[in-house]
Amino acid sequence: MKEQLAQIRTQALAAFSSAGSPAALEELRVKYLGKKGELTAVLKQMGRLSAQERPAMGQLANEVRAALEDAIRATSEKLAQAALQQRLKEETLDVTIPGTPVRQGHRHPMYIALDEIKDIFVGMGFTVLDGPEVELASYNFDKLNADEGHPSRDWSDTFYFDSDSRVMLRSQTSPMQVRAMETLPLPIRIIAPGRVYRKDEVDATHSPMFHQVEGMVIDKNVTMADLKGTLNLLAEQLFGKGTVTRFRPHHFPFTEPSCEMDVQCHKCGGQGCPTCKGEGWIELLGAGMIHPNVLRMSGIDPEVWSGWAFGMGLERTAMRRFKIADLRLIFENDVRFLEQF
Ligand code: PHE
Repeated sequence: MKEQLAQIRTQALAAFSSAGSPAALEELRVKYLGKKGELTAVLKQMGRLSAQERPAMGQLANEVRAALEDAIRATSEKLAQAALQQRLKEETLDVTIPGTPVRQGHRHPMYIALDEIKDIFVGMGFTVLDGPEVELASYNFDKLNADEGHPSRDWSDTFYFDSDSRVMLRSQTSPMQVRAMETLPLPIRIIAPGRVYRKDEVDATHSPMFHQVEGMVIDKNVTMADLKGTLNLLAEQLFGKGTVTRFRPHHFPFTEPSCEMDVQCHKCGGQGCPTCKGEGWIELLGAGMIHPNVLRMSGIDPEVWSGWAFGMGLERTAMRRFKIADLRLIFENDVRFLEQF
């Protein structure tokens, strides 16, 4: 039995040290030390020994077991180390290799123009509001004094969600006037930029989705002179000192009196050229004094408060600001175009 133990020890130690992987080592452990292992088999024969022989043999067997376990532990550590070294070698990262270049985006000219507009109005004490594009017709029309028969309510002009014409894609940012009046304390000075939707075919000056910036002031003793002064300042700051503007009478259901503001064509100085389609002027926005009905519907007393509002086309403003000839360029997002601004 002594020889048997010595043999197992020599064989096992040799086998362990040549194990190439943790799995192989585990297999060897089972082979020698497992329940049906070789060492265990020898130990099971202990019962056959005489009482005198047993202690010495028991001690020897324990020594062999301890030696095998030590060897397994050592080999297992050695294998783990080797695996780590291997990984470190294989997964080396050369941080000095130049990376793949990332192409940077570019701010869109329309948003450059919008940021300029925001800066100008924030500088005059206005707050910038955001509001829903899916809007109630009551906010887009009723509370803005547009009567039942108003042409822009037509299904051929407006995107509705329901057959009752109650929910729609807003066709203007003017519902933000109502939302501001209903929620903000007086006096009010706000602008509200955002997308609006109309059933228009795409061409050089039309798109079914475009952007507007709404503006509104409500205070005591506000007059048309304040409207003109503010919008003239806007034109000068956006397009340069000495920019000439023109106010023409117009009609909107929610303002009275109403007007449109044109900016003199930068190309021809008002003579008429292809850019302004021979007009000499470029239409920029609609505006007017807020109709007393509109104030009243939002719970504001028109005997005490007055106000004005405007709505400007943002694409059109950017086109004027950056001398862009075709509206479609604004939406195509060709980087070769965008990078010019
Ligand atoms: N909402 C109008 C339009 O889309 C513009 C406007 C806004 C006119 C505010 C007057 C006052 O044409």
